[in-house]
Amino acid sequence: MRRVVIDTDAGVDDSIAIVYASRLPDATIELITTVSGNVPVSEVTQNVLYLKKILRLDAPVFSGAEAPRSRKLITAPEVHGKDGVGGYRKSKGISFPAWRTGGAAAAIVMAARKFGKKLTIISLGPMTNIAKAVSLDPAAVKGVGGIIQMGGAFSGYGNTTVFTEFNIFVDPEAASYVLKNGVKVTFVPLDLTETLFLPRNIVASLLVKAGVNWPELVPLLRKALNHYIDYHRHADKLDGCFMHDPITVAAAVHPEWFRFTGSSVSIETKGKHTAGMTVADFRKGAVLGNSRIAVSFDALTFLGDLTGKVFGARIGRSAAGQSCLRRRFTADFRNNLR
Ligand code: BDR
Ligand code: CA
Repeated sequence: MRRVVIDTDAGVDDSIAIVYASRLPDATIELITTVSGNVPVSEVTQNVLYLKKILRLDAPVFSGAEAPRSRKLITAPEVHGKDGVGGYRKSKGISFPAWRTGGAAAAIVMAARKFGKKLTIISLGPMTNIAKAVSLDPAAVKGVGGIIQMGGAFSGYGNTTVFTEFNIFVDPEAASYVLKNGVKVTFVPLDLTETLFLPRNIVASLLVKAGVNWPELVPLLRKALNHYIDYHRHADKLDGCFMHDPITVAAAVHPEWFRFTGSSVSIETKGKHTAGMTVADFRKGAVLGNSRIAVSFDALTFLGDLTGKVFGARIGRSAAGQSCLRRRFTADFRNNLR
């Protein structure tokens, strides 16, 4: 049994990742911590508390950083909605007294001390809380079984600026701090997560099937996913959406579905056009250093498991499954002629 901490900026795909993680028989969620990213941490925490309620999760929730330590917070309401779930929570007037505010980083440290190698930290947002946890007790954080970070773009373009992925772009100093302090991180980057998407028509049919089973969850997923897909249609000309964070949960709990490479990763913090860029040295003979990068995965096995657990309707190696695979737009300009 793998014990996991989820640090999240939920977020539409984060919310699906939490649902998925809660239904994985091989994982126990010991703690959920929240961080500003997709939306401010106050909204993120509300989303997590609502998920905790409807999924009947035991895990304690601690809220964390309101903003990066050394730069202004950037959020993405256009992608996830102002409340982070496509406007669903606001439209229903759902809110909780935000207890246990603060303390996310300390809670991560406590979990690291308690579970050591048995613990995997799954980081689905900017690394602000993780960096703070490292500053509080580097040995404890280094002593966990693994830290898996959704983030980075190594061989292709970013989703925020030309070369940056959102989570790292929001707080590059935090990511850099973690790596520079000798903490090994496994990155699940856009290069991998954007090779799979859920088309709108498939999402619609999954929601119809799921509706019978989970009357509280499905309206939330419907509104959140529709908003998220509308964004992708507008911004990426893609009538569907990416599952960045659920894939990251899978990389933590089912690493056997993934191929990883060792690498040295540095984070650009200063560049006018490149701050937030993840730079990995893949040259022959390069030192295999502080990180691992997930480079490919068995997307259809993941898809079958995700759809079965989150929607109660498996899409596997069928034609529908195949229609979810895509080639990613890469930095090789010869493939991108217009
Ligand atoms: C990451 O940023 C957020 O928009 C998603 O939740 C995901 O964690 C993708 O770049
Ligand atoms: Ca996220």
